[in-house]
Amino acid sequence: VTAAVGTISILGGTGPLGRGLALRWVAAGYDVVVGSRSADRADETAAELSERLGSGKTMRGAENADAVQRADILVVAVPYQGQRPLLESVGGDIGDRLVVNVVNPVAFDDLGPARAEVPGGSASEECQEMLPEASVVSAFKSIPARKLAEIGTSLDCDTFICGDDETALERTSELVESIDGLRPVVCRPLRLSREIEGLTPLLIAVNRRYKAHSALRVIGLPQRT
Ligand SMILES: NC(=O)c1ccc[n+]([C@@H]2O[C@H](COP(=O)([O-])OP(=O)(O)OC[C@H]3O[C@@H](n4cnc5c(N)ncnc54)[C@H](OP(=O)(O)O)[C@@H]3O)[C@@H](O)[C@H]2O)c1
Repeated sequence: VTAAVGTISILGGTGPLGRGLALRWVAAGYDVVVGSRSADRADETAAELSERLGSGKTMRGAENADAVQRADILVVAVPYQGQRPLLESVGGDIGDRLVVNVVNPVAFDDLGPARAEVPGGSASEECQEMLPEASVVSAFKSIPARKLAEIGTSLDCDTFICGDDETALERTSELVESIDGLRPVVCRPLRLSREIEGLTPLLIAVNRRYKAHSALRVIGLPQRT
């Protein structure tokens, strides 16, 4: 599996979600680069996470543009407000690669969390529009970063993944299944990411009310989805 996937670079990999994915994937045997706007922050994060993993399992850090150069697969893991500037600066080098988009546009006001205004429909569709040659897949949007970081524990939940390209969906499913207890629920086309991203304010409100780290489970599916 590892050889077929190659190197995964996580842009914005210094945040809670990127760190959790990096930990889980390196533990599963993948080659991971933690990307950041700052090479120093990337190196520090990679060193800290490698130490946490122990047993010789390591990852590297790189400034986002370098992380793109080294990648076979890219993960966009920055806040929605950072996605456009990030892709404007490094998008030209991404080409036709698989880009996994985990970005949730969420806004907060007095009433709590709500969907942020997204002119292109969803963060993933805007990402695809900015990277016309790439295969963008929406994934990992409704999973709690906190649980992801608890390596050795099962996530015991599902993640919707959606995109327009079947091969990209299959490759992303492999990445999802490499994480203990995480099941991909696959749907097409990419525009369904609007619905997936819309679940996030709902889950945040639930988490606030119940002081929890909730996640989703779809029932009624056959054993393999
Ligand atoms: N947290 C969760 O439970 C969760 C779950 C599912 C999906 N998500 C989504 O995954 C993405 C990352 O989540 P997170 O909680 O890890 O976010 P975060 O900590 O706010 O941001 C992740 C990283 O993005 C970089 N960044 C911040 N602002 C940026 C900007 N304006 N331009 C470029 N890079 C910027 C920072 O890295 P450097 O400063 O090192 O560059 C930061 O460490 C978000 O879109 C979020 O909605 C989060």
